[in-house]
Amino acid sequence: MTAQQDQANRSQTSIDDRILAEEQRFTARNQRSQQMYERALEVMPGGVTSSWSSTRPIPVWISHGKGSHVWDVDGNEYVDVHAGYGVNVVGHANPAVVEAVQRRVALGTHFAQPVEDAIVVAEELTSRFGLPQWRFNNSGTESTMDAIHLMRAITGRDLVIKVEGTYHGHHDLVNVSLWQSLDDLGPEDDPGRIPGPGIPQVIADLVRIVPFNDLAAVERVLAEHPGRIAGMIIEPMMMNAGIIPPQPGYLERLRDLMHANGALLTFDEVKTGLVVAWGGATELFGVTPDIVCLAKALGGGVPCGAIGGTAEVMSAISDGRYDQVGTFNGNPLTMAAARAVLTEVLTPDSYQRAEQLGSEMFAGCTNALAERGVPAYGVVHGFKGSVVVHDRPATNYREFLEIDTAVSHLNYLVQHNNGVFLAPWAKSESWTLSVAHTSADGERLVENMSRLARMLDNTSDEASELFEVGGLT
Ligand SMILES: Cc1ncc(COP(=O)(O)O)c(C=O)c1O
Repeated sequence: MTAQQDQANRSQTSIDDRILAEEQRFTARNQRSQQMYERALEVMPGGVTSSWSSTRPIPVWISHGKGSHVWDVDGNEYVDVHAGYGVNVVGHANPAVVEAVQRRVALGTHFAQPVEDAIVVAEELTSRFGLPQWRFNNSGTESTMDAIHLMRAITGRDLVIKVEGTYHGHHDLVNVSLWQSLDDLGPEDDPGRIPGPGIPQVIADLVRIVPFNDLAAVERVLAEHPGRIAGMIIEPMMMNAGIIPPQPGYLERLRDLMHANGALLTFDEVKTGLVVAWGGATELFGVTPDIVCLAKALGGGVPCGAIGGTAEVMSAISDGRYDQVGTFNGNPLTMAAARAVLTEVLTPDSYQRAEQLGSEMFAGCTNALAERGVPAYGVVHGFKGSVVVHDRPATNYREFLEIDTAVSHLNYLVQHNNGVFLAPWAKSESWTLSVAHTSADGERLVENMSRLARMLDNTSDEASELFEVGGLT
């Protein structure tokens, strides 16, 4: 064994030991969650309501939230940057949203007929995203499903291009080549079409996979299947692998390539829309696609979804080429909440304030890591930010897979045990701020990052001391 290998093995052991100690502390602090989890296991598979609420060592059960903070059932208080997987940019129990929802509840919450709030919401979205027409549904999954159906209905073609490793929801058409390890992905210049569990290969074969930020791959697919590509669905900024921005010119060129080949471009802005900028990534990068998918932040905490499109795209709905339907579409409760979110809470200056705070947090985190010789990269846009412990920025999913997930999990545990609630999948989720977050909230996250930095710095005496105090009490 070389000295370098020996050093690497020792650091990994020490990270594993720290994880174990932090997990013990986590469980000790969450005894009521533990009890609820055990009770839930009897009646819910995995003891959770959605498999992605699972957390090692145990899922945390929440009591309530207010502004930028949440409380778990054990009474622990956290600065919340999980934000319910990027939903709560308005903060918890935002007074404008509470008031709108309460007013609506008393007037009836469901008719399956439109209410006026829907017009206001659609008008607002039109201004923000520059797309003239909108329809509603109930989740990000429904939005991307509608978008793909529309691209196919309009073009009469079957095949859709999707980016490797990107998540667009849990329906068949996009649950392909996702979460796989490097070994399973196939050669870089001919990525496999790997169906998710429960998805037949025959469905996955209707998708063509390309790496993010790789125009040549898209050109190759278009050339290989002339007249067969209905369109491409893409997150304009890849959000489930840290945050990976598009390279300059990438999005414009994608739109041109699609149009030159009679195909359409959909931006999945379920995470970025209304979060990274007033008009989402569409505004941020100055490229308007044919279709935009929204969900998450739009409802201010109430289930929601929307698709926007060009006049040409949306005419397929008006003239019946595609029936965009759903019992709960445009639900009055959702529309009331969304109207308050768009017109009262997420004002243009709210994005600037969030980005200012995020930039301070980013600088604090990266300085704390750099002081201990720990390399990191990341970005901040509007309410979103990421700090990833790794020596170079990932530009696509394969590069992101090189990141040490043990360090990411340790970060999640250290943040949690010291009062900051990150998304359970901390390696990919980064942070989401809200209009209610303060500098003190940001400082708490930075302090915890300093703790992590000291733990990762094997040369530090403090590392072992912290481990004793932080890990075993
Ligand atoms: C980019 C993206 N698209 C779609 C979805 C699916 O949204 P939902 O969970 O509301 O169905 C998600 C969920 O995380 C997402 O991140």
